[in-house]
Amino acid sequence: MKVLSVASEIFPLVKTGGLADVTGALPKALAAEGVEVRSIVPGDPTVLKALHGEKVHHFDELFGGPADLLVGEAQGLHLFIIHAPHLFSRDGSPYVGPDGLDWPDNAQRFAALSWVAAEIGRGLVTGFTPAVVHAHDWQAGLVPAYLQYGGGRRPGTIITVHNLAFQGVFPADLLHALRLPASAFQPEGVEYYGKIGFLKAALHFSDQITTVSPTYALEIQMSGAGMGLDGLLRTRRAVLHGILNGIDEAVWDPASDPHLVARFSAKRLRLRATNKSSLRQRLGLAPDPEAPLFGVVSRLSHQKGLDLLVGALATLVEQGGQLALLGSGDQMLEDAFASAAVASPGRIGVRFGYDEALAHLIQGGADALLVPSRFEPCGLTQLCALRYGAVPVVARVGGLADTVIDANAAALASGVASGLQFSPVSQETLESAIIRTVAIWFCQPMWKRLQRNGMKTDVGWTRSARQYVEVYRDAVRSRS
Ligand code: ADP
Ligand code: GLC
Repeated sequence: MKVLSVASEIFPLVKTGGLADVTGALPKALAAEGVEVRSIVPGDPTVLKALHGEKVHHFDELFGGPADLLVGEAQGLHLFIIHAPHLFSRDGSPYVGPDGLDWPDNAQRFAALSWVAAEIGRGLVTGFTPAVVHAHDWQAGLVPAYLQYGGGRRPGTIITVHNLAFQGVFPADLLHALRLPASAFQPEGVEYYGKIGFLKAALHFSDQITTVSPTYALEIQMSGAGMGLDGLLRTRRAVLHGILNGIDEAVWDPASDPHLVARFSAKRLRLRATNKSSLRQRLGLAPDPEAPLFGVVSRLSHQKGLDLLVGALATLVEQGGQLALLGSGDQMLEDAFASAAVASPGRIGVRFGYDEALAHLIQGGADALLVPSRFEPCGLTQLCALRYGAVPVVARVGGLADTVIDANAAALASGVASGLQFSPVSQETLESAIIRTVAIWFCQPMWKRLQRNGMKTDVGWTRSARQYVEVYRDAVRSRS
């Protein structure tokens, strides 16, 4: 089966978050199941630099200028790239300009991605006519709409929701510029509260809908987590599936990770101490032998609940803990963590920005990983933590609820606990979780059990790739 994956990010070429990890790793797992995946991504400068592509099609006019469709390989990925300088030759973030605001033409930029993907779906490229087009998030949301309105061959379509908080909503007067017919502007089309909704359109038109954990699949059918789309999702629940993300076990392997100072395995957990010392040194933390070291690797945004951690830092320090935080995003949060680091020298260490190597060292050196998200469609950092023997301490939401087994009395008695969960998400419950974590830390046999259970957890892609294959088959069936 041939599948075209459509997304704005793909690891390791362009990444702002977990979406890239998924679109980078899933094709390899699907290949092992006999699915031939090619991924189409915008020709951002970093992508073009990595690819020696061959031109397979020329568009005289693609949303404001000429463009070429390139095909090629980079970093083991089979890619279609849209080389459209007027849309994508921009350094920095794929979404935001140097002024910190969304690019004003984001609607056209990602409509172009969806448009070309739909054309490939119809058979534009000889030798690669996909049975299924798999769109990821709002940036690819117009694919099924274009296939619906454009006529011609109709492959099966899937939308995967990685985060319902980002919906791609644009003014109604762009309808024509986005090459959508006037008839599309209705509730049974792309219209969304008087505007054009890219994700809404995908949820309406796709044959199948997936999201990245079973719990999030339930949460988004309710008001609140549904963020305005819960009604539509409820009407489509027969084709809505929660399929857990995995992580790329080659990229995230503590036994061979080049970013670690000491590589280790479940049998050689003692070696983690070397990574812990190195991490402390890098972040200016005191070499206190008793202190549990908490780590955070995260976007700093409301979703991730790190404002709650700011409030809980006094408890963390009072309990004798230390914090190593790597994050980027919200300036107010950066400022708050920077001040906390100044106020508690040797106890709180912070780094702002995107740093792949430090992210790995935190996973391989911190004792526990904190993920206090208000909502979390899946979350990948807790999966990395499980594999690296950093005990995840997580909010009981979305994929966090599905992947970590809380150290409650029953789980401890049956020896299956792999981390700690807290709920409802608040500063108080986070503080209790920190206190509970420190108590377990001082009972080292119990702590080691959590680490070992975590490291045994299946965080790979195989099981989920098989579930995607089933969904692809259903999508194809609904077209025949
Ligand atoms: P989200 O996609 O919502 O940000 P995920 O947990 O799914 O959250 O994925 C985040 C990914 O980005 C992980 O691979 C994590 O290691 C990485 N990451 C997040 N923040 C940083 C950072 N500041 N530096 C390096 N990697 C980061
Ligand atoms: C989104 C979500 C995150 C998920 C990732 C990959 O960024 O916030 O929970 O793991 O997508 O699916």
